[in-house]
Amino acid sequence: MKARGTVRVPGDKSISHRALICSAVANGESRITGILRSADVESTASVLRTLGVQIPALSDAMSFEGVGFGGLREPRLALQCGNSGTTARLMSGVAAACHFTSRFEGDASLSRRPMKRVAEPLTAMGARVEFERDDGLPMTIHGGDLSGIAWNTRAASAQTKSAILFAGLLAGVGVTVKELRRSRDHTERMLASLGVPVTIGETSVSLAPVAVLDPLSVAIPSDPSSAAFPAALGVLAQDGEVRIPGVSVNPTRIGFLDVLARMGASVRYLEKRMVAGEPTATIVVAPRKLHGIRVTAEEVPAMIDELPLLACVAAASGVSLDVSGAEELRVKESDRISVVVSNLKAIGADAEEKRDGFRIAAATPRPFRGRIATHGDHRIAMAFGVLGYLDGNNIEIDDRECVAISYPDFWRDLESLLQ
Ligand code: S3P
Repeated sequence: MKARGTVRVPGDKSISHRALICSAVANGESRITGILRSADVESTASVLRTLGVQIPALSDAMSFEGVGFGGLREPRLALQCGNSGTTARLMSGVAAACHFTSRFEGDASLSRRPMKRVAEPLTAMGARVEFERDDGLPMTIHGGDLSGIAWNTRAASAQTKSAILFAGLLAGVGVTVKELRRSRDHTERMLASLGVPVTIGETSVSLAPVAVLDPLSVAIPSDPSSAAFPAALGVLAQDGEVRIPGVSVNPTRIGFLDVLARMGASVRYLEKRMVAGEPTATIVVAPRKLHGIRVTAEEVPAMIDELPLLACVAAASGVSLDVSGAEELRVKESDRISVVVSNLKAIGADAEEKRDGFRIAAATPRPFRGRIATHGDHRIAMAFGVLGYLDGNNIEIDDRECVAISYPDFWRDLESLLQ
């Protein structure tokens, strides 16, 4: 199979959520182009609508009026977060700073995911957070006057960091978040680009109080986590070259491409420019013979969402892979350690679980056959979906539609590259 051509992947999911939230609480009309139209971003839009913000249907060029920090209204219905951890966690910070009560609900997958990581700092700031079970959604937040905080997060979690930053922003109090390892930094970049005094250290971020937020005018770059799939196809093909223009190459997001290059792939960055405070580039990949690699804890945050795909790339190339320090994978949309390893085994690869990662053994590449149990996890469907396009493989995905969470046109876009 040859993979050749240019594919424009959709807008960045993390930046799309943040653009909606910042626009909603800004004073004045914001303009957003290139927003990701996917189920997760729809969840954030719908939660903000339930809080009284008039957000039009998501479109490639949209604008709407923010309500200001104090303008959100007490919701009459639960805040439905669907499958989106980013919606639940970022909006929990917003809700904590509002003088009313909000109840957060999600689908079965999201309801299993930990929320104490946001509840603890928000409680320390002065909100009251209630769970019906020990942890997870449904979660009820009684917001109010908050005080400033300096908080050390246990995991490298951009969602936790952002919850604290949004709580501090809306409450008008200073906050500092210190992380063990640096997580993606889109919230701090966006706030800094709007003139909020944000101090960014190696693994810490501090925000000083402001009275109002200026409206945004933002062009959202393409999502490096979505670009990873056509990039992987380009690397695994027999021949060809895949180009993906306008992708965010924010250093906190491109660990997968860095590792591909270290494995011997040809990865080039052309047409580099800054867009809305984010570095972007055209990514150009071509196939090469790969070799095995180890991924350690320090490298994990910048490629956390791409680790299932990396496992598939290693298995397809017959090279060894050893990933450690990635225990966060167990609390994503599915337990991605167990789901990746069991699916790789099901199609004939030699893979093994570790507590905090997985191991793939070097092997002579051979065709993979079997049915993938996605557990409704979009990134599992897409990672194994890439394997399905390789010569000789015969892979059935149990739920092809779940790609709509982050990349609705995934199947069409990948097929456009096949020759
Ligand atoms: C995200 C942060 C990451 C990532 C998720 C999106 C975000 O989770 O896995 O897909 O937009 O902030 P963490 O909070 O674990 O960093």
